Amino acid sequence: MTNQTDTQEKSKVSRRQFLGFAWLTAIVAFTGETLAALFKFVQPVTAGGFGGIIKAGKVDKFAPGSVTYFQQGRFYLHRLEDGSFLALWQRCTHLGCSVPWEESEDQFHCPCHGSLFSKVGVVAGGPAPRPMDYFPVIIEEGEVLVNTESPIERKAFDSTQTTPA
Ligand code: FES
Repeated sequence: MTNQTDTQEKSKVSRRQFLGFAWLTAIVAFTGETLAALFKFVQPVTAGGFGGIIKAGKVDKFAPGSVTYFQQGRFYLHRLEDGSFLALWQRCTHLGCSVPWEESEDQFHCPCHGSLFSKVGVVAGGPAPRPMDYFPVIIEEGEVLVNTESPIERKAFDSTQTTPA
């Protein structure tokens, strides 16, 4: 009788240990995934072509109204309906997260604190203090070039920020 009680007691302890281990594993996995996701969004902008002139492609490759992401240059190239180009830095002006383009919403939507930016990068909601910064666009022999050397801050959007094709 005593032996059976001891076995049941050991079994209970063992189950508790197992559950504790399972919880610990889940917490470690969750923390790791969270940190990896956080790093992806706040990683510093450094190498991989960023900081120089990026060849985006031929003018005709971009349809009016389109938004094309260039991971290497960390910008979005927006071809406006009038055919001109605007290159927006992907960096959120709130705390620097990478801002994805949400085609279904027709706007940029920062996942960190919910800032929203219109197609030309103007703040449409959330805590961002100013529009997305932009880069100069150069059209040379029918090719679109984006100079990612130094992003330009602005308070609002106007057509001087765009480059005609
Ligand atoms: S970093 Fe984008 S809303 Fe805070």
